[in-house]
Amino acid sequence: MTGMPMPVAVVISGRGSNMEAIARASLSAGSPFRIVRVIADRESAGGIARAAALGIPTSVVPVKQFPDRASFDAALAAEIEASGARLVVLAGFMRILSAEFVQRFEGRLLNIHPSLLPLYKGLDTHARALAAGDSHHGASVHYVTAELDGGPVIMQGRLRIRPGDTPDSVSARVHTLEHIIYPHVCTLIASGRVEWRDGSVLFDGAPLAAPLIEESDAAA
Ligand code: GRF
Repeated sequence: MTGMPMPVAVVISGRGSNMEAIARASLSAGSPFRIVRVIADRESAGGIARAAALGIPTSVVPVKQFPDRASFDAALAAEIEASGARLVVLAGFMRILSAEFVQRFEGRLLNIHPSLLPLYKGLDTHARALAAGDSHHGASVHYVTAELDGGPVIMQGRLRIRPGDTPDSVSARVHTLEHIIYPHVCTLIASGRVEWRDGSVLFDGAPLAAPLIEESDAAA
């Protein structure tokens, strides 16, 4: 590999705090990746202004203007391809992508999910972890496959649930961990240490038997 940073597109629906954490990492000296575009599916996504403030090109592919999922996904894919991105990072993107889209970007499409996958796929993960009485909770960065929240996990941020925790208090600590692990995974991929190979993850050239773990009890 030469020294050219890997071009990354980040796709968001909301406030974009993960996008910003990844962007800040990409702007640090020697980062092996750079964000070439932040794309939102709605004008109201707060992350668009955050990205623009960091000098990153942005665009909106307004989901409401498309009659069906296939046409939206095709427009999103075209926008990503036009950016030149080699890695596509979903960061709080609130839509389910079609199998065609996932296949097109297979092996270069990442997502972050706020649970210790395979636990709690889908929504309301913090409340579900608390209701189950779990001792730990966290977030997972995974390659996206056709199975919702089901692709191979690369890294997890893990924290201990505290007495008196609420969905909001846990969510805040999970976000703090997300802001560590998502830029970390982008760096590992862009530097070639993590690779997708035929549906599974290689780490330093060997199959990753279990997700890499970032443990934190200190997350505020
Ligand atoms: C994060 O909690 C992430 O796990 C989930 O959506 C949230 C996005 O937050 N997929 P933000 O927009 O990055 O602040």
